[in-house]
Amino acid sequence: MRTIGVFTSGGDAPGMNACLRAVVRTALHEGMRVVGIRRGYSGMLQGEFEEMDHSSVSNVIQLGGTVLKTGRSEEFYQAEWRAKAAGLLKEAGIEGLVAIGGDGTFRGAHDLWREHKTAVIGVPATIDNDVYGTDATVGYDTAVNTAVEAIDRIRDTATSHDRLFFVEVMGRQAGFIALAVGAAGGAEMILLPEHDIATGEIYNTIQAGIAQGKMSSIIVVAEGDEEGGALEIARKVRELGPVECRATILGHTQRGGRPTARDRVLASELGAAAVRALLEGEEDKMVGLVGEKVLLTPLPDTWGKKKPLDEHLYELTRILAA
Ligand code: F6P
Repeated sequence: MRTIGVFTSGGDAPGMNACLRAVVRTALHEGMRVVGIRRGYSGMLQGEFEEMDHSSVSNVIQLGGTVLKTGRSEEFYQAEWRAKAAGLLKEAGIEGLVAIGGDGTFRGAHDLWREHKTAVIGVPATIDNDVYGTDATVGYDTAVNTAVEAIDRIRDTATSHDRLFFVEVMGRQAGFIALAVGAAGGAEMILLPEHDIATGEIYNTIQAGIAQGKMSSIIVVAEGDEEGGALEIARKVRELGPVECRATILGHTQRGGRPTARDRVLASELGAAAVRALLEGEEDKMVGLVGEKVLLTPLPDTWGKKKPLDEHLYELTRILAA
């Protein structure tokens, strides 16, 4: 394999740039040519290709976002557009791809491989951490740290006013961010899509806390919780009785910012491993870090198998908050 393409796709995640740097420089080290594809699948469909060299990824390891930009493409769900993309990749001499993103990115990559035999290796990068086949995705650690810092600040004002705060963190389908943030931020309760807690129980727990002398509390809510987001839950709780509470949505602040050292190292290891996997003739797989080892997982398993939540940690947070 002499020429590879690389792109970032879906929601951006801190550490994507560190990953691009690793992909580009590992490939150059192996004597390959690297083509950067701008704006994910949307740019691929428009032939937005650019030659990348050593300096294309200079001074980016510390930057959040992605210098190649990203996007979510509706067209790429359709076979005729994927055929167009495969044709453009071929014209550009691209023999293999490194796809940096989450499950949506990997579904597109798998379709491209299935229909056109394009060799693709995925690198998991999404703040949500909801990808099977890796202990952590690139960006997750930074997002958790950003949210914990915000919670520490909210706790100051919560304590000063003797108030309850519902703090909503990202995670449309999974509670990984909420659990880690709740555990590290000492939350009194954590509301996750994986554990449905009815509003009545939330209200009773708040009242029990007040009876015990708890004057302020933080309840972390995953955006995908069954009972609704932070605003909705706060509204429902207020309907059950007089509770002085506020709701804060951390939103996209969790997606930006300088990647943590941990994310930079993970991104570097997985980016380099993706290039080596292509060189070894691997395709339709994702590189992930499991324990201390870099392992390959078939792309369909990355979204088809469910990554388990750390139930032990969830139980521990309940014990420690009591
Ligand atoms: O990147 C994942 C994620 O942050 C989800 O947690 C969130 O629901 C979603 O992206 C929002 O993405 P966007 O605003 O880009 O559509």
